[in-house]
Amino acid sequence: MSKTELQLAEVEKIPVLGSDSIVCGFHLTDYIWHDIFTNLTKASTYVLITDTNLAPLYLHKYQDSFARAWASINGSKASPRLLVRVLPPGETSKSRATKGEIEDWMLSQRCTRDTMVLALGGGVIGDLVGFVAATFMRGVPFIQIPTSLLAMVDSSIGGKTAIDTPAGKNLVGAFWQPKRIFMDMAVLSTLPAREFSNGMAEVVKTAAIWSPEEFDVLEASAESVRKAVLQGQSGDGLEGLTIATRSEAQKMLLRVIAASARVKAYVVTHDERESGMRGLLNFGHSIGHAIEAIVSPQVLHGECVAVGCVLEAELSRRLGYIGEVGVARLTRCLRAYGLPTAIDDPIIRRLVGDAKLKEVRPARLMEVMRVDKKNVGTQKRIVLLKRLGECVELKPSNVDDAMIEEVISAGVLVKPVGDSASGSPVVVVPPGSKSISNRALVLAALGSGECRIRNLLHSDDTQVMLSALQDMGGCGFSWEDDGDTLVVRGGGGQLSVPGSELYLGNAGTAARFLTTTVNLIGGDSGETVLTGNARMKQRPIGPLVDALRANGCQIVYEESQGSLPLRVTHTGKGFPGGTIELAATVSSQYVSSILLSAPYAQTPVHLVLVGGKVISQPYIDMTIAMMAQFGVNVERVSEKEYLIPTMPYTNPAEYVVESDASSATYPLAFAAITGSTVTVPNIGSASLQGDARFAVDVLRPMGCTVEQTATSTTVTGPARGVTRIRGIANQHVKECDRIAAMCDELAKFGVTCENHADGIDVHGVRISDLGPVSPSVHCYDDHRVAMSFSILSCVAPLGAEIRERRCVGKTWPQWWDVLARDLGAPTAGSDPEPLEAEHKETAVAAKPSIVIIGMRGVGKSTLGQAAAEALGLEFVDMDAYLESKISKTIPEIIKADGWPAFRDHERAMLVQALEQEHPEGAVIACGGGVVESEQNRAYLKQYAKTGGAVVCLTPNMKHVAEYLEQDKTRPAYAITSDIYEVYQKRRPLYAECCNYEFLVDKSLVANAWPVIERDFVRLLNFATARSLNRVDLSSPSFFVSLTADDVRAYLPDTLGDVTAGSQAIEMRADLLLNNQQFAAADLRQPDVQEAFVEYVQSQFTLLRHSSSLPVVFTVRTEPQGGRFPGSADALRSRLLHLAVRWGAEYVDVEIDNIVAAKVFAGKQNSLVISSYHDTAGTRLTWTDCEFANEILARGRACGDIVKLISVANAWEDNLKCLQFTQRHHSAAAPLIALNMGYTGQMSRVLCPCLTPVTHPALTAAAAPGQISVQEISQARSLMGKLPARSFYLFGTPIQHSPSPAMHNAGFAALGLPHMYRLNETSSADPLKAVIAAADFGGASVTIPYKQEIIPMLDELTDAAQTIGAVNTVIPEIRNGKRVLVGDNTDYLGICGCLERARATAGTQKFTSATALVIGAGGTSRAALYALYTLGVRNVALFNRTASRAHQLANEFSGLLNVSVVGQLLDAAELKPTYIIGTIPGCDLVIPEQLFGENGVALDMAYKPRWTPLLETAQRNKWNVVHGVEVLVEQGVHQLAKWTKLSPPVRIMREAVYSKYDAEF
Ligand SMILES: NC(=O)c1ccc[n+]([C@@H]2O[C@H](COP(=O)([O-])OP(=O)(O)OC[C@H]3O[C@@H](n4cnc5c(N)ncnc54)[C@H](O)[C@@H]3O)[C@@H](O)[C@H]2O)c1
Ligand SMILES: [Zn+2]
Repeated sequence: MSKTELQLAEVEKIPVLGSDSIVCGFHLTDYIWHDIFTNLTKASTYVLITDTNLAPLYLHKYQDSFARAWASINGSKASPRLLVRVLPPGETSKSRATKGEIEDWMLSQRCTRDTMVLALGGGVIGDLVGFVAATFMRGVPFIQIPTSLLAMVDSSIGGKTAIDTPAGKNLVGAFWQPKRIFMDMAVLSTLPAREFSNGMAEVVKTAAIWSPEEFDVLEASAESVRKAVLQGQSGDGLEGLTIATRSEAQKMLLRVIAASARVKAYVVTHDERESGMRGLLNFGHSIGHAIEAIVSPQVLHGECVAVGCVLEAELSRRLGYIGEVGVARLTRCLRAYGLPTAIDDPIIRRLVGDAKLKEVRPARLMEVMRVDKKNVGTQKRIVLLKRLGECVELKPSNVDDAMIEEVISAGVLVKPVGDSASGSPVVVVPPGSKSISNRALVLAALGSGECRIRNLLHSDDTQVMLSALQDMGGCGFSWEDDGDTLVVRGGGGQLSVPGSELYLGNAGTAARFLTTTVNLIGGDSGETVLTGNARMKQRPIGPLVDALRANGCQIVYEESQGSLPLRVTHTGKGFPGGTIELAATVSSQYVSSILLSAPYAQTPVHLVLVGGKVISQPYIDMTIAMMAQFGVNVERVSEKEYLIPTMPYTNPAEYVVESDASSATYPLAFAAITGSTVTVPNIGSASLQGDARFAVDVLRPMGCTVEQTATSTTVTGPARGVTRIRGIANQHVKECDRIAAMCDELAKFGVTCENHADGIDVHGVRISDLGPVSPSVHCYDDHRVAMSFSILSCVAPLGAEIRERRCVGKTWPQWWDVLARDLGAPTAGSDPEPLEAEHKETAVAAKPSIVIIGMRGVGKSTLGQAAAEALGLEFVDMDAYLESKISKTIPEIIKADGWPAFRDHERAMLVQALEQEHPEGAVIACGGGVVESEQNRAYLKQYAKTGGAVVCLTPNMKHVAEYLEQDKTRPAYAITSDIYEVYQKRRPLYAECCNYEFLVDKSLVANAWPVIERDFVRLLNFATARSLNRVDLSSPSFFVSLTADDVRAYLPDTLGDVTAGSQAIEMRADLLLNNQQFAAADLRQPDVQEAFVEYVQSQFTLLRHSSSLPVVFTVRTEPQGGRFPGSADALRSRLLHLAVRWGAEYVDVEIDNIVAAKVFAGKQNSLVISSYHDTAGTRLTWTDCEFANEILARGRACGDIVKLISVANAWEDNLKCLQFTQRHHSAAAPLIALNMGYTGQMSRVLCPCLTPVTHPALTAAAAPGQISVQEISQARSLMGKLPARSFYLFGTPIQHSPSPAMHNAGFAALGLPHMYRLNETSSADPLKAVIAAADFGGASVTIPYKQEIIPMLDELTDAAQTIGAVNTVIPEIRNGKRVLVGDNTDYLGICGCLERARATAGTQKFTSATALVIGAGGTSRAALYALYTLGVRNVALFNRTASRAHQLANEFSGLLNVSVVGQLLDAAELKPTYIIGTIPGCDLVIPEQLFGENGVALDMAYKPRWTPLLETAQRNKWNVVHGVEVLVEQGVHQLAKWTKLSPPVRIMREAVYSKYDAEF
């Protein structure tokens, strides 16, 4: 090539705005300069701007070509200047700053009005450079050279230029048309694959609104378009420069891009300023943009638009325009180009993570859409599709919010159909059966003649089948009626070798059917490979291949034996036929595969099924029946033998695929339940599917009218009664345990069911009794569950929420449209609350056993046993287990075989216990030395790592030594008799093996053992996720920061005072350094570190012993406003990890990347609060989005909850902080944000959750400006955010009740504006009006209304239900509706008092004790339930009227062994340890003989203070509990339930006593 010779490409031109200014081709560089120099106005300076990704690839070509082109046209005439500027890539360059820099640079280069600007790059460069050109010297000529696919088909055309501002994207810009747009497709070869997909979203979108033909092409050529772009041309050649050198793939690429660009150009030309038609290009963008607003920049524009396209198409379908076929094709096409098609698509999930994804909720999306530039007023305008390639209007259409919301919601609210359903009969055509669709495709493709297949199911399976059959040639497919009809031109069985492998994805049916079919390929050479995705390559196909090979087919496995890929060699013998033996016990599809192709074998096939029972005979029958419909009759010569004649199939002119009969059961059930009439027109008695009998076999016996012809079914309801279903054991193991799911979910409607091993009994109720609430149905992601409950919801009085709308997509994506449009059930979108609370923790049995390790004598057996009892698990002592298995005592083993042999036994037994005998359901205590062996350690570590809990008991060694002194029964320690040394050596080994640690130190509190047991159970509950004790973050919550250097400063009473109102306690480990023992200590010394760690652990344990509230464990560093040295990171990291092991519910980490990331990675069941404190308030200014957003993102990456703290410099900073939280806080992604300092106090009032608070009784606040719960509540109430509510006591007589004093004192202490009053009535009736009032906050209920109130309530707690009485009414707001809940706290009062009394008196354990209950009225029911809750199993019951006692004993017989005694004295024999009196004003004589050695007596009556029971107990030196104590305790629980705050116990108690002491 000479120096001046130009390579001028052959190009295609596309007109835009009246001139041919779009130029497409390959290798355009020379063409571009030649065109500019010859055809456009001359410039003195050419400014080319590009980015750093493109510069190294293409810049030199442009510079080189510039010189050559000039010389070739102008000879040696002085050349104009070419100035080049390279910018950083990415959206951030589209800024005012960059624009300014370019302009200043151009000015400095003395560019004038005769400058021409060229943008070489993607949309970013194009938009930015275009805007520079538009305003430089009031506008200079401009050239677009788009290099990304998106830029070619979208951003370069139309003249829109823009930059971004902090307020949003593209908000400042101008219309400025480029003089030329050069699309050089050759550069696409360097485009990253994801950017290619990004651009394809716009290409697919454009075809979808504009051109059915173009859509067909895109759909069919995904593979070749992808290849053309991504592989590009090999080497540095100039393929495609001329048409002659263009490859097929290049032609396809040019065609696709040019077509898309042409549409955009056309639309722009006819609507330059975007008044109507141009809005069409916005298809997929209304919803897409809203998604993008939340998930960008991680997710690209095109990826969001792809999801938007699918959702907007679904919206069009919902409104009755496009059909399901269109939506399915669009979805598959986008997916074929590597794009996501749903909000929770794995592609998006991978990019943004689960936490972020949870933010994409309908309300947020609607909010973003509300401010869309394209809206007209408040009406949203969305492009609706009539079919693929055509819109409903030539502009966006107005759509109601409710419709949009429904389509973008995860859940759906189904409202009752009312009377409208009983009107005229409805015809519903469910989607085609998948089995029939697949068979019909093979039959018609192999047959001769044309066949129109209707109602074909469009699924990935059928799509794969279609393309594979097409690739084997011989047959042709085309669509009619917008894809509703598939026209097949059968090839009569003439198949040829496909051009490439047959790729079948994960379509099992296609793989099996075609494995026989490929052998029909004619000719005596060539090979065909059948392959699939990774999953497919694991699915079995062995028996079929074996049978075909035995028949003479040449098939080899390419990878693993027995699975795809298969290589079939064509030998000219085709499919030999004759006798074929096939094992049909794995899949009936093998049989169908041979049957379907058999008519084209060389000799007639005699198929013999060998092996055991044939699986799924109905599917074989279906195949045979369909073959007959295509003219081939199979003869069944014996049960397992078939003869198939050799003859071609004859295609019927039309074949209607039967609707899926399982799907059809739902509309028919709708008729049954609503009493309406529904017809399914293409399923009848002649159906090929078993489920077609549903109407006749199930609905008719239930009382429905069923008319069934050979081809249609009509059902008219209604049906009712008890339904027993049997023989459906397999439903326990479908997509979910459907039987359990039915029982659980039906219960929400008030329908009772019994769950049987092979079925279910459903006790039908009247429709009007279907529950007074609107249940929220969990579908377990199972389409069948969703559809069933949607039917039930149509008659439930208030309808119901179906949580997972989309799961019906598996078989009937348009089900909700049918339900709403055809069947008339009103539907609306819903955004279900996360399940957690409602969904029970996984069953106890499924949890791995708990292992306890630690020194001998620390309490492994005692605590292990106690915990096992409390958790309902078995206790296993490994030493005893080993001795019993080996039949020798441990000392014997050691004596005979030595220590190492003993350790081997120990390990073998541990493995046996954990893996075989007790993998779950046990608490296993190991011998103290188990950690001595390295193998044991490795095993335990692995156990902990894979989900098991290994809990180490940390000893107080002094106690252990004392204990071992007394216990001489065990062998001495092997190494040395000094157990302190042993412990020193083992300590790190224990630490290494366990994942939880528990300090056992009975010197921390008085009467420690019951408390230690309780807290050990609490740790195990936490470690095994049985109970995580977490704060509800959906409403305001508080945690109090302890500031003293020793928890003892708050004991015994102050801790209760300061935690009142809070839901958690913050333990500031850094402040413990203030303790005098560390005053002068040097934290760098290892022994000081050890001492500090020990101190922190004992403080943590003491706090546990003293409060049941969850703990926030914090080590605040000096730079963040705390006391901990910023330099001691290793120690800080260690403390935080330990806190996780101690079971701290929350651990605060500072957002610092290193420590934080590690703690987050190892958080186990703790939640991590990632925090950042700007102690000056200069960086974290809330509105400065850069910094706040960055720190928030970093916090989210290392925390479950983010805590951002700044300082208010002005009061308005509080509002900014509020706005920030409103943008970023949600229950799923919680954010604590506030300002420190006096000026910042208001931000604490407004903080959405976990607000740190102080309390007047604390010596110092933990941070400047910290206020108390009381102050916050007062402020919230003043602000109108906490309205005053009225609470009542219902009952009579009640004048002397101390309850008003107690609750009002409680409200006042918490700063709540509520008021509690007596409401004495002579009957229950007037209470209805009281509880219905809007300001009703709750009530206590006493005699005589504890039972009468029940019918006025919406639901009862389990406790109230079992007790059969309500003493507390709690109004709860759920989904915006008020639900009145009846609860019972009497039993909680009894439990709390008895537990405390036992702890101080050291009486017998509840589980082994006997209790006596006196009285059989409502209160004694609470007493029995309390005893049951505490673990008591044996109860004596006395009542003057014995029959009532018997009746009560009977009712509780499922929970307790109750023996009714005829006289009180009779109970003496049973030796009760606990006696509860429940009779007010009781005048019984209490026999002294009842009182054994040591026990607790409790009387529920509080007038007089000393009842006969308590007096007698006192005389016998028993512990006594006065009724007034129970009154306080139950009241405290009431207040907690009403306010969701921890109650101020001491203040409430004092209020009661000051009244009580004065009166009694
Ligand atoms: N003006 C309009 O009408 C309009 C329409 C749609 C989008 N846009 C704008 O377009 C921008 C997005 O455009 P984009 O998707 O092209 O992004 P982009 O310009 O950032 O390009 C994407 C990435 O691909 C690289 N790249 C581009 N071509 C390449 C090639 N041939 N080889 C190797 N790497 C290459 C770029 O350097 C960049 O890193 C957004 O700012 C959007 O607002 C404008
Ligand atoms: Zn777009």
